[in-house]
Amino acid sequence: MKAYNWGILGTGNIAHKFARALMLLDNANLYAVGSRDAGRAADFASEFGFNRYYGSYEEMMADPGVEVIYISSPHSHHLEHTLLALRNGKHVLCEKPMSITAKESIRMAEEARSRGLFLMEALWPPFQPSYQKAAEILDSGRMGRLLHMRGKFAFESPYDPELRTYSLALGGGSLLDIGIYPVMDILRYMGEPESVVASSVLSPTGADESTSVIFRFSDGRMAEAYSSFANMAGVSTEFNCEKGNLILTRGRDRTQHLIIELPNDTDDRIFTPPAQGYQYEAAEVMSCLDRGQTESAVVPLSFSITLAKVLDLVRTRAGIRYPGRDS
Ligand SMILES: NC(=O)c1ccc[n+]([C@@H]2O[C@H](COP(=O)([O-])OP(=O)(O)OC[C@H]3O[C@@H](n4cnc5c(N)ncnc54)[C@H](OP(=O)(O)O)[C@@H]3O)[C@@H](O)[C@H]2O)c1
Repeated sequence: MKAYNWGILGTGNIAHKFARALMLLDNANLYAVGSRDAGRAADFASEFGFNRYYGSYEEMMADPGVEVIYISSPHSHHLEHTLLALRNGKHVLCEKPMSITAKESIRMAEEARSRGLFLMEALWPPFQPSYQKAAEILDSGRMGRLLHMRGKFAFESPYDPELRTYSLALGGGSLLDIGIYPVMDILRYMGEPESVVASSVLSPTGADESTSVIFRFSDGRMAEAYSSFANMAGVSTEFNCEKGNLILTRGRDRTQHLIIELPNDTDDRIFTPPAQGYQYEAAEVMSCLDRGQTESAVVPLSFSITLAKVLDLVRTRAGIRYPGRDS
């Protein structure tokens, strides 16, 4: 089995979780970390046992040993950092959202394709065992036709203009940060909508504190997505089908539940993936590379671009603006 040398760009919150997850994979070498600050890079490297650390992203990119880069900077910088990695011949797993606008996602996809390098948006839910079980049940026809979906992702994060999540310059706002998940689920299962209605509550910085979206599809079906930093509504996606409901939800202890509601039967299956399950997306990257594939069939670039286009539309409808970035 070939082992791949990973480089992590950035040393923030999700970079810590991802590094912990990489440690679970025999074919992943924790090779290098790059930070804007050499001290932070050194601390991160010693916490997780990386071989090398660099005090700038450019230095890490110049290391010929690095094969795959995980981009964990704020979304405002995904375009710049992904292009930097690709131009240095590295494969890339880029955190979600892949970019602020669809135009930027298209640019990133073009660069990867023209260089024959791997690129995937780190949309981790489809790789979770609970999500895959839900897909299997839906595909089996046991629940009948999918009629409606409702997804939400909300947690309380009080307003603080210093937080990344409330900074427009860093791409803050609930839609791009967490609303992307229910929107992703709806697009995966119901396709592209015919019409979109959206409304947001904007925080004083202009970043959306909460966003609600209603999608209508050409066959008459509808779906709703909600994201918020203003309450503890939690995380769930409901699939309302002809014969019953399937609910994917996450407990406060981060266990993943797959609830199957049928007229005479309710089944709650609990999944507790180690390291919160981030290892599955990394395993997908390496399995694609093993097969010589430059895109994942589960999260292809065409899907990331469609998702970015729909998010552009939602932003326009809801009045969310990123100065200088609007498409
Ligand atoms: N998949 C998930 O479940 C998940 C969860 C949380 C976040 N995310 C995504 O991951 C990305 C990062 O989120 P996070 O919560 O980890 O953010 P964070 O804690 O603020 O970390 C971001 C890191 O990016 C680097 N960075 C580079 N340029 C920066 C800039 N101009 N300002 C601030 N930091 C900069 C910094 O590392 P250095 O200073 O070391 O260079 C910083 O520690 C976001 O795109 C977010 O959507 C995904």
